[in-house]
Amino acid sequence: MESPFEVLDVESDATDEEVERAYRRRVLEAHPDHGGSTHEFQQVRSAYETILSEDAEAPELNGDDSADGESDGDNDSDGEAGEDPADREPEGVRVEYLDYEALADRGWQITDDDLFEKAADAALDVDEFGAFVAPPDDSLLEAAEEHGLRWPYACRGGACSNCAVALVDGEMPMPNDHILPEKWLDRGIRLSCLSAPTSDSAKVVSNVKHLPGLDDLRLPLSRFDKARLND
Ligand code: FES
Repeated sequence: MESPFEVLDVESDATDEEVERAYRRRVLEAHPDHGGSTHEFQQVRSAYETILSEDAEAPELNGDDSADGESDGDNDSDGEAGEDPADREPEGVRVEYLDYEALADRGWQITDDDLFEKAADAALDVDEFGAFVAPPDDSLLEAAEEHGLRWPYACRGGACSNCAVALVDGEMPMPNDHILPEKWLDRGIRLSCLSAPTSDSAKVVSNVKHLPGLDDLRLPLSRFDKARLND
């Protein structure tokens, strides 16, 4: 079985930046829309999350087969003081996402307290539910796309509301120049093309463009050259 590092095609001592770059490349290669498969896509995502978590096991180095986490003294290549992937802080904000259609199909509500717990138990497809780390300088939409997700958009400039998400947990400030009325901001709606989470973590419901009332703010697709609406 391949190690998480082998799945991402990086060395076991790769830096955070190298892991992040490798993940972005591999997740695009593995996406079903780009010639990969759901299994491969999930494998890449799982490898990335494992490396970011405390459980990544580095493959043995120098032919030494003591890879069971018991640091045997003076070798500093895998000890707790070394560059252990488990100690790495993910750069950016961990974002959990849930697609609105997956939610609506099951009769769930955005306001359900246990919404993401129910989603975690529902064996949803990776396009419907999962998590990624949003880099500091990306909009949420850019971060989702870099992680192989195909979220709807049209203008990419705050003018159409097609990219709207519902912020369920966390902070995600909006710049001033956009189409959303105050009442929608108060209800947690954000435009993913313009804003990004600033809290330690965030949970969003994506693809909420068809929410009653919000749908009225959408501009016609013909207004924009490049659009992806997933209608
Ligand atoms: S894509 Fe139009 S507001 Fe974000």
